[in-house]
Amino acid sequence: MLEVSDAAAVVVEAIPETSLDERLVADTWAIGAPPGEAERVRDSIPLWFHTFALSPGVYTPGIARDHGYRLPVLGAGRFAGRSVLDVGAFDGFYSFVAEARGARRVVAVDNEQYVDWVAARFGVTLEAGSGFRAIAELTGSKVEYRRMDALDVDQLDERFDVALCFGVLHRVTHPVAMLQALADRLNPDGEVVLETYGSRLPADLPALEVHEPGDVYARDDFVYWGFTSESLRRLGSVVGLEDVEVVDQVEIAGHPRILAVLRAAR
Ligand SMILES: C[S@@+](CC[C@H](N)C(=O)[O-])C[C@H]1O[C@@H](n2cnc3c(N)ncnc32)[C@H](O)[C@@H]1O
Repeated sequence: MLEVSDAAAVVVEAIPETSLDERLVADTWAIGAPPGEAERVRDSIPLWFHTFALSPGVYTPGIARDHGYRLPVLGAGRFAGRSVLDVGAFDGFYSFVAEARGARRVVAVDNEQYVDWVAARFGVTLEAGSGFRAIAELTGSKVEYRRMDALDVDQLDERFDVALCFGVLHRVTHPVAMLQALADRLNPDGEVVLETYGSRLPADLPALEVHEPGDVYARDDFVYWGFTSESLRRLGSVVGLEDVEVVDQVEIAGHPRILAVLRAAR
């Protein structure tokens, strides 16, 4: 739904209601904060991307849609005792889930590009990193947050067992460079767990769709690409991650999405 913002006199999108499905995803990491504290944290941020189950019946009103299809790649077996890099973390739901499921170290990075598209789409000015910090403080999390572009993760000077790359690859101008940067940060048995914008082109076509600015989400000029299964397989191959397992391809709220795990050939 579109609304006219009085203050800016520009057309913006109404902040959508959190879906029931997204609350079910949030419930997989119930924070259990005291209700008053939960409400204070919920109300301290003008727009949440992720839905967090702060306290029974108290959720952050996240705008992300129905991430339930990602749950199959988020089991404790993936994280227990492992080091995790989460690129494009935003409010950090997946970083915190990795920590809660036993990751020994989690580093979350984001270039905070979302500040621009949240302002353009919803007319909301976000303080960069504020949602992440609010949850980290509430939960006593040890996840390390860095403002950093995913292309610069070589500056981290450490390697990881798991690189989570959710909702980001379609937003970078150079997807090969980003995948290469992640592949170069992996331990020998490491893996990139990738979720990105899909395509309605045939899955076996090695093609990328190129989107016009704003044609995926109105006023969001940062969605460039749509990926088929075969395009991900070939991109993985280019960066030395030849073992590409496409876990799922789904349509969420009218948008094709693809979920895959990329590893070096053994
Ligand atoms: C759609 S949100 C996805 C958030 C979360 N990963 C998820 O899937 O629920 C995309 C996030 O990636 C970040 N981002 C986009 N390009 C990036 C880049 N080149 N390096 C680091 N973060 C980036 C944005 O700022 C935003 O926080």
